[in-house]
Amino acid sequence: VKRLGFIGTGAITSAIVKGLAISGLRDWPISVSPRSRERADELASTIPAVSIATGNQAVVDSSDILILAIRPQIAAEVISDLRFRDGQIIVSLVAGMSVKTVETLVAVQIPVIRAIPLPSVETCSCATPITPHHHEIAILFDALGSSISVEDESRFDGYVAASAVMATYFGIVKTTADWMVASGVESADADRYLRSLFGNLGDIMREQPQLTFDQLRQNHTTCGGLNELVF
Ligand SMILES: NC(=O)c1ccc[n+]([C@@H]2O[C@H](COP(=O)([O-])OP(=O)(O)OC[C@H]3O[C@@H](n4cnc5c(N)ncnc54)[C@H](OP(=O)(O)O)[C@@H]3O)[C@@H](O)[C@H]2O)c1
Repeated sequence: VKRLGFIGTGAITSAIVKGLAISGLRDWPISVSPRSRERADELASTIPAVSIATGNQAVVDSSDILILAIRPQIAAEVISDLRFRDGQIIVSLVAGMSVKTVETLVAVQIPVIRAIPLPSVETCSCATPITPHHHEIAILFDALGSSISVEDESRFDGYVAASAVMATYFGIVKTTADWMVASGVESADADRYLRSLFGNLGDIMREQPQLTFDQLRQNHTTCGGLNELVF
């Protein structure tokens, strides 16, 4: 059993903590920082393993694995104020901040691992890239779906870039809904139609790993048809 501490109790912390609560690691004690009080209270009142610490340093003092889940703009300031100790492990979720930068901000020499968990950790169905490989951190993210160990940080940036197209996915859905509404379809009908259409495409992609992306596209294309034209 490892004690987990979260610095930052925002959207991604909430998703990870809720995922852990339904995972094989549900007994691991979790300490969260008191910021975002409402969210912290909700987690602590619904999940037995969660307690709210008095501040960021108290989270660090009571944890074995520290998860940095704060926004990039304030990360350097927050991390450099904290005193870590030997034997601890840091997992940084801070977008765009290198392992080296975090190591420089942390005065002691302890492992620093970067990870990109996405909101689907909440249902323990996320494949989470981590770099560099670390056995205990792999166990943590395996419990939330699976972990992908990436040895080279420059290769890790490929995963960072890929994770940055999530909003675009929903942007395509919204643009498509706007076309439908502009052509006279009721907004609620467009909504229902597109949730089914895009949701099913996601299911097909997940359920048929033997098909390449090109094959999936071809399977959804009639020769000379509209999909071919739009693509
Ligand atoms: N959301 C995702 O899917 C996702 C995925 C992967 C990585 N990330 C990364 O994870 C980090 C957090 O993202 P998020 O979406 O969870 O952001 P968020 O919802 O904005 O949460 C940020 C949290 O940090 C807290 N905070 C602000 N200043 C703090 C301080 N001085 N000490 C302690 N906590 C402080 C905020 O508290 P207040 O509300 O009180 O200000 C809030 O609880 C970002 O670097 C992001 O790039 C996010």
